[in-house]
Amino acid sequence: MTPQTWDAELYDARHSFVTGYGAALLDLLDAAPGERVLDAGCGTGEHVAQLAAAGVDAVGVDASPAMVRRAAARFPGIRVSVADLRDLPFREEFDAVLSNAVLHWVPEAGRAAACLYSALRPGGRLVAEFGGAGNVSAIDTAARALRAGHGLPEAASPWYFPTVAGYARVLEDAGFEVRAAWLFDRPTRLTGADGLAVWVRMFAPHLLAGVGDPDTFLAELGERLRATLYRDGSWWADYRRLRVVAVRPPR
Ligand code: BEZ
Repeated sequence: MTPQTWDAELYDARHSFVTGYGAALLDLLDAAPGERVLDAGCGTGEHVAQLAAAGVDAVGVDASPAMVRRAAARFPGIRVSVADLRDLPFREEFDAVLSNAVLHWVPEAGRAAACLYSALRPGGRLVAEFGGAGNVSAIDTAARALRAGHGLPEAASPWYFPTVAGYARVLEDAGFEVRAAWLFDRPTRLTGADGLAVWVRMFAPHLLAGVGDPDTFLAELGERLRATLYRDGSWWADYRRLRVVAVRPPR
């Protein structure tokens, strides 16, 4: 995973939609009490806590020590630890793996898929959602055009936003049987008049690399995007999700 550093409290305060939208994913997972479930990229622990409260034997891992510390502080007693999705220590231990809004931070998709496969027992399932092809393209395109206008170099992207076909191939190459995969638009409300600027600072700092005056840059970005992403008194990020259900075939 990218060596992204997170402000875990800001993440909860301003970006709780990340876990909020995950509720649909939990429904899709449909974990039964007693099942062993890994939350791969557990963030601040909400889903691990919800699963544990429902009697599921839930374990969370996240690459960010700050997120794991906050998860443990918010939900004492849940099992969470620091681990990289490209190098998980689990072997055939879980009935299911859940992953929400994380895999787009792992460009080494084949390595991550192989780790998720290894973590599952034969017959176990993967239910995942993350940014798919075209995700946040309005924000990304406008910020890149603005950078070019300021004479700044191309910013390398830390994101991986695959198509349905591209990610199905990644999963199949890792040994999974893909049961379903779909791509859908999910405009996502960013709270506050500064919602867009807060989002860029938190999730897209690469787009600010080398920018002398980030406040002015972000104000200009807002002007460029207002017509497309500001409506009903709020900023809306042009999120596009890729959701997948896949199974590690039984032996
Ligand atoms: C997403 O959840 O789609 C996302 C979050 C941060 C950066 C890029 C995408």
